Amino acid sequence: MSATVNVNGRITPECEAVISVFDHGFLYGEGIYETMRTYDGRPFLFDRHMRRLRRSANMIELTLPFSDDELASQIRSTQTAAKLEGEAYIRVLVTRGVGELTYDLKATPKPSVVIIVKPQIDPAAEVYEKGVRVVVVDVVRNHPATVNPMIKSNNLMNSALAMQQALRSNAFEGVMRNYKGELTECTTANLFIVKNNVALTPPLDAGLLPGITREFVFDVGKDVGVEVVEQALRDDDLFRADEAFLTSTTRELVPIVTVNDRTIGNGRPGPVTGKLLNAFRRAVSAG
Ligand SMILES: Cc1ncc(COP(=O)(O)O)c(C=O)c1O
Repeated sequence: MSATVNVNGRITPECEAVISVFDHGFLYGEGIYETMRTYDGRPFLFDRHMRRLRRSANMIELTLPFSDDELASQIRSTQTAAKLEGEAYIRVLVTRGVGELTYDLKATPKPSVVIIVKPQIDPAAEVYEKGVRVVVVDVVRNHPATVNPMIKSNNLMNSALAMQQALRSNAFEGVMRNYKGELTECTTANLFIVKNNVALTPPLDAGLLPGITREFVFDVGKDVGVEVVEQALRDDDLFRADEAFLTSTTRELVPIVTVNDRTIGNGRPGPVTGKLLNAFRRAVSAG
């Protein structure tokens, strides 16, 4: 890894980037984040990421100590220092900050802001050409009345355990169910299936992160005449889907061709997934 890191305005190479062990992000996992990537050097869908960061902040009663423009400028400075030749992966983290060992908000008046910039590594071409295998994992997605999945939280133990289960069976991703047994999303991506040419994705109230790429798929679907609809989904819907795919900022739309040991559709990336991926990429090129 060769990252450049901005910790509260101080930009350094990764080996010099430090944060106090008394930061409540470290002590309690109390913080929020965004992952963005650049196309042509510019963070893609920056305004939407800022909207989600502000919503996450509101949901944990954290006041962001910057305007959108100020954060954009800090990101630009970090990118400049990083001197990347290709596109950037950008992670913005905001934690409660440093304070006494107590959950009382009064102990942490100054949030910590960290920006990590490193090269964006795209998935191999094969991932898009052949599709991937995912598994449905036993770890249940957080109940919305616990750490609500709507919060893009630094507290990622649940997702880490779910992904570790998926990795043990060599899967590309793990699909999590909610406490009702409905499908929610993958550990770092949203989930779609295609049935009768309609793209279906679990509704937000199933308890999942409102992915920015997920949201954008609704827009590009309109552009190319593919209906995209929210619908509660269960294991059988996924197993019997014509196509399936996952979405995330760093991976765009990735076709899913196997779930556990069951083949989806004809076992190859499907036409509707391809149409949406092409439309997504056209929208990216159009800026
Ligand atoms: C749990 C979860 N769901 C979905 C996503 C995809 O969201 P986005 O499209 O905003 O990258 C992520 C991204 O990290 C995630 O962590």
